[in-house]
Amino acid sequence: MAKGRILSGMRPTGRLHIGHLSVLENWKRLQEEYDCFFFSADWHALTTSFEDTGEIKENTLEMVTDWLAVGLDPERSVIFTQSDIKEHAELHLLFSMIIPLSWLERVPTYKDQVQQFREQGKDIMTYGFLGYPLLQAADILIYRADAVPVGEDQLPHLELCREVARRFNHMYSPVFPEPRALLSRVRLLPGVDNRKMSKSYANDIGIFAGPDELRKKVNAMITDPARIRKNDPGHPEVCVVHKYHSIYSPSELAGIEEQCRRGEIGCVACKKMMHESLDRILAPLRERREEITARRGYVREVLAEGALKARREASETMRMVREAMKI
Ligand code: TRP
Ligand code: SF4
Repeated sequence: MAKGRILSGMRPTGRLHIGHLSVLENWKRLQEEYDCFFFSADWHALTTSFEDTGEIKENTLEMVTDWLAVGLDPERSVIFTQSDIKEHAELHLLFSMIIPLSWLERVPTYKDQVQQFREQGKDIMTYGFLGYPLLQAADILIYRADAVPVGEDQLPHLELCREVARRFNHMYSPVFPEPRALLSRVRLLPGVDNRKMSKSYANDIGIFAGPDELRKKVNAMITDPARIRKNDPGHPEVCVVHKYHSIYSPSELAGIEEQCRRGEIGCVACKKMMHESLDRILAPLRERREEITARRGYVREVLAEGALKARREASETMRMVREAMKI
């Protein structure tokens, strides 16, 4: 039986943080079972940074370097940049003719995000921003993907994608499968200050942070504020370090909790253990990344090769679409 086909993408926002690591590990696992397409959504990055585009190209290269270092394998998966495949834009245009405006206006994230950006003094009331989920539908359907690994926040976009596929198939002829969402068990790690992890809060930990930065970030993690002296009994459930231990030091977790509650371990020592656990995981990734960056031009080659393979599939879909629409 043919393998199922997976597609997923990320906007190139620069270096990745460890919140992305579980997403990438999931992609890496999916490579074993599926034909995978992974791409840098650089046109999507324009929706919020159309005034300041200077870093988009470089960010794609950095992000894809990170992907390769974590273990995405260009021999097995098609790794490419959205803007290299113009067919996404053609399909998006054709879809824009058949989608009712109300479908886009009612996407729950739309009004929220416009509001959020407005509060930051940014106006994103653009045509492109409204159309973001439709371009995403084109990204997915152009490869006739069966499933899309996404986080929960993307479910409304995937639902819209399925509706567009259904409408097209019904109106013309059945070209598109209705892709399902593969909800990944993404571990939601807080930032070091216990807010949502985000580069804009500077509370994130880079996957490829060097040893000094890593130490600084671990030191900045918020612990139980009720502990003043190191033998005060602690409450691990309110502590960021504890949340990280639960993911990165699972075998030591029970012991740490117990010692914390009894006031037998100080936060400084506890953070030192955290730093060691993180470094054990991140050091080999850093090494892999260095090997990759030492091969000059390698990432560009991967993307060029990926574009060739992606284009082959995308142009076949467009042939079917044009035939179905008789244009
Ligand atoms: N919207 C996605 C995000 O912000 C990125 C994206 C664009 C995507 N096109 C996609 C994800 C297609 C999956 C499939 O994370
Ligand atoms: Fe957090 Fe560890 Fe301090 Fe307990 S001992 S509060 S788990 S850092």
